[in-house]
Amino acid sequence: MNFGDEARDRSTAKDDLSSAWYAREPAFGSNFAIRLSLSESVAGASQDVEEALTEQIGRVNLYPDLAGEPLNGLIADHFGLPGSAVLVTNGSDEALLLSALAAVGTGDRVLLPERTYTGFRYVAEAVRAVVAEGPCGIDGLDVEQFLAMMPGAKLAFIANPHNPTGLRLPNGAIQELCRTAARVGCHLVVDEAYAEFAGPEFESALAHLDNGETAVVRTFSKAHGLAGIRCGYLLATGARMEAVRNVRRAVPFSVSRFALAAASAAIGDSVRLTEAVADTAAHREQVVRDLRGEGIEVVDSVTNFVLAHLGPATQALTERLHFDHGVTIRDARALGYPGWARITVCPPADWAAVFELIRENFSTGTRMWG
Ligand SMILES: Cc1ncc(COP(=O)(O)O)c(C=O)c1O
Repeated sequence: MNFGDEARDRSTAKDDLSSAWYAREPAFGSNFAIRLSLSESVAGASQDVEEALTEQIGRVNLYPDLAGEPLNGLIADHFGLPGSAVLVTNGSDEALLLSALAAVGTGDRVLLPERTYTGFRYVAEAVRAVVAEGPCGIDGLDVEQFLAMMPGAKLAFIANPHNPTGLRLPNGAIQELCRTAARVGCHLVVDEAYAEFAGPEFESALAHLDNGETAVVRTFSKAHGLAGIRCGYLLATGARMEAVRNVRRAVPFSVSRFALAAASAAIGDSVRLTEAVADTAAHREQVVRDLRGEGIEVVDSVTNFVLAHLGPATQALTERLHFDHGVTIRDARALGYPGWARITVCPPADWAAVFELIRENFSTGTRMWG
């Protein structure tokens, strides 16, 4: 099967700009890829978002709003928070970096789960912190150990749901983490990039913003499907938010007017968000069912990606999918999970094709390299 041709065909379809569900872009040296390696959204931009973006084209000579309006206010209303508790950022990655710049100096300790979202480590290293890692793996974060390591850390990052496992923290854990952080004076930044996917049982750290040490980071890159515009936000209160705003003065216009406009259109579109989340859950169930049906171990993700155990042939399989078929999945070896791959879930038609390739190459691979 050659996805390159199929992708080219589709890219000529007239309505493709709005209905192209996801990354069919030249990537990493291949022609066109079905990109299931970056946990992007499978849904394209809505009509409202397209219109909002188009409207900004005539204003490109003007800086964006300094306070991030109207988006800042819309996010505040959405969560029932004062505007002062919201800071819109250039992707959630900027929120993580600003948080660290505000809280950490050279040589301070930053606590992370091991084998977590790589951005946490890059941020900690960028601010010349000393990184400490709490145990975390396929079974999730060892919360007790993490709590025990908090005293002495200036800052702690956790992702809930977690990347790359897709696991949600167990009930009660987030409360304990936030309370302990406040007690020991460790600033806890909870990265909730995948919160919208995580279902009604998900416990957000939002309820703990007032304890003075908790901040929440969210993004428009995942469930809202706007990874290309680069827009996220930090939710925090008091001195912590003040400190972040001070750092932000160095990059006052980091969120473009296109990002502000597109995200403002997206946040009001609850129908589309609900639909995207429901579709993702249905696609994920199919992906998990198919993989497990082949005897492949899959972690219980609540997100738009799954971590699957493809075994010793993972690297060869990943490379073959990429170079021979233009399909990218993420070999999770570099994320600390050798033998595992992180795969973004996708709609049935594409998944059927990708799954077929995984099946063919999985069995061949296991025989050849297992
Ligand atoms: C846990 C986590 N945090 C943050 C990000 C960065 O997202 P953004 O596009 O908002 O910078 C990602 C992206 O994959 C992620 O998985």
